[in-house]
Amino acid sequence: MNKSKLIKKGNLYYPTKEFKKRALLNSSKIYLEAAKNPIKFWEKLAKELFWQKKWKKAFLHNPPYFKWFVGGKLNITENCLDRNLEKKKNKVAFIWEPEPTGERERYFTYYDLYREVNKLANALKKLGVKKGDRVGIYLPMIPEVIISMLACARIGAIHVVVFSAFSSQALNIRLQDTKAKILITSDGYYRRGKVINLKQNADKGVNGTEVKKIIVVRRTGNEVFWQKNRDFWWEELVKNEKDFCPPATMDSEDTLFILYTSGSTGKPKGVVHTSGGYMVQANFTAKWIFDLKEDDIFWSMADVGWVTGHTYSCYGPLLAGTTFVIFEGAPDWPAPDRWAQIIEKYGVTTFYTAPTAIRMFEKYGADLIKKYKFDTLQILGSVGEPIDTAAWKWYFKKVGKERCPIVDTWWQTETGGILITSLPGIGPFKPAFTGIPFPGLKFDILDDKGKSLPAGKEGNLVLLPPFAPSLLRGVYKNPKKYLKTYWSEYGNKIYFTSDTAYKDKNGLIRIVGRVDDVIKVAGHRITTGELENAIAQHPDITESAVVGVHDEIKGEVPVAFVVSKEKKKEKDIEKEVKEEIRKVIGPIALPKKVYVVPDLPKTRSGKIMRRILRKLFTGEELGDLSTLANPESVKKIKEIIAK
Ligand code: PRX
Repeated sequence: MNKSKLIKKGNLYYPTKEFKKRALLNSSKIYLEAAKNPIKFWEKLAKELFWQKKWKKAFLHNPPYFKWFVGGKLNITENCLDRNLEKKKNKVAFIWEPEPTGERERYFTYYDLYREVNKLANALKKLGVKKGDRVGIYLPMIPEVIISMLACARIGAIHVVVFSAFSSQALNIRLQDTKAKILITSDGYYRRGKVINLKQNADKGVNGTEVKKIIVVRRTGNEVFWQKNRDFWWEELVKNEKDFCPPATMDSEDTLFILYTSGSTGKPKGVVHTSGGYMVQANFTAKWIFDLKEDDIFWSMADVGWVTGHTYSCYGPLLAGTTFVIFEGAPDWPAPDRWAQIIEKYGVTTFYTAPTAIRMFEKYGADLIKKYKFDTLQILGSVGEPIDTAAWKWYFKKVGKERCPIVDTWWQTETGGILITSLPGIGPFKPAFTGIPFPGLKFDILDDKGKSLPAGKEGNLVLLPPFAPSLLRGVYKNPKKYLKTYWSEYGNKIYFTSDTAYKDKNGLIRIVGRVDDVIKVAGHRITTGELENAIAQHPDITESAVVGVHDEIKGEVPVAFVVSKEKKKEKDIEKEVKEEIRKVIGPIALPKKVYVVPDLPKTRSGKIMRRILRKLFTGEELGDLSTLANPESVKKIKEIIAK
């Protein structure tokens, strides 16, 4: 047990000698070794995993396209499961904590998980699923979500996980785009004590898609609509299946999964991740950044509906052969310290969450967690948005008791795994700074012309060749979008992250924020265009603009300005607009406020000036309004906001 406080030098923190001694990595030499020849470095790492056939060439660059471990053959589930049966057959792979406090948790050993995955894989095959087919997964945080992803991977089917709190329309878009023929869902799930009828959403979501079969997990026992020959209960499907299904042979570059995320326009884009590179990165980032050793219990709070859940609540910890926790519910329900209870209950050693959750915990007051010693905790992690100094310090002191390094991990749905952070046994850790590039990666910060900027100067964060083995290989069925979003700002050899950042004199990177229309609401990625499209479905709204504004807990929240052709009560319009967003996207995207305005500020070419709307809301200086075609709109909106 690590009892000493971290070493503080100025505003930097370092791990103690004792901590370093136990850590998997404790010398910065690893960075130098990797930098000498990054391709060789990744190759060396890849060799530690099991490949059915070794690759011929480690990295192939045909800008903007690239490949990793070319010609290599593998199946990621052999590395997650079969390989662990040798030494860890009866070790717990994961513990599932249900939302209702009266319900018992469930433990899955590596052997249990292996059998469940193989059974479902066989069942999927019987339903006609073949290698390369897309399978939709619309499940809450229950064990079956992990089993489903792995069963797809076992037979080479591509999983498309859709966050269970997304609406049926959001599900529909993703199923249509991928032409999935099978959907795995559940009768319902628990959310803050209520049963949500998920099957009902799924039934609506498959309308007009090619989904022919739906597999339904019985979770809540609520009544569901049932369509014979289309709907199958999970338990009945897998009941008589064999415990073994031969792993499909996947090319290193074959697609493992597609995950949709918000892009620069209104339509979500399907980020494509491949098998080999993703596996290598997921394994080593999980193992080294969270310092996963034999006796660790790792808990990442993110839902599998997001990339963090894919990589750190499924593939990463399984590849590393660790024990991890997954949780069905909300961290503050039924009591605000539920999250702390879970840490204590299972003796969690590594806890990974988002700044929005940390700020929420903080708001409930330190008194609430006074009774927790958190003495099993070794490492704390943060992800999803910049963590402000106040939240960092609270997390460090009140949860980590100044003993636990905070790994602030920067990455994206597109990068598949963590790319920037400080390593726990090396450091340094600095409030509000994410750290340095993971060994083997090259980042730079550029000005608009592509010039590399010195320390202290803010610019665009870019990733340089050979990129990262887990970086996305495409946007599903949209090669133009792939080129335009990532490979056009600085030419086709530089990956543009869409984030701005700067370095301090030690090279530690501070992420400032996005340069596109993406807003991070409680760590969730949403674009203003996506919200405006949803609002546009309202029959009376002729025009709208959404801006992201600062929020104490959620980081950012949307605020909508709408023009209505019908004279209705503002309250009614606000309610209807929110309903529209709930219907099209889901409750996570609800705006903090909807203003009904007579007109939106526009340039002469008709471009809506969102910047002005944001400033009107925050009360900042508006600046030059001379380029506006309708400056009088500004005054009116100001009056409406003041009301
Ligand atoms: O702006 C960065 C922010 O989240 C974006 C990626 O969002 P998403 O694809 O939803 O993935 C989130 C989980 C990996 C980034 O472009 N972001 C993510 N992590 C951090 C962050 N900003 C600051 N610090 C972080 N640690």
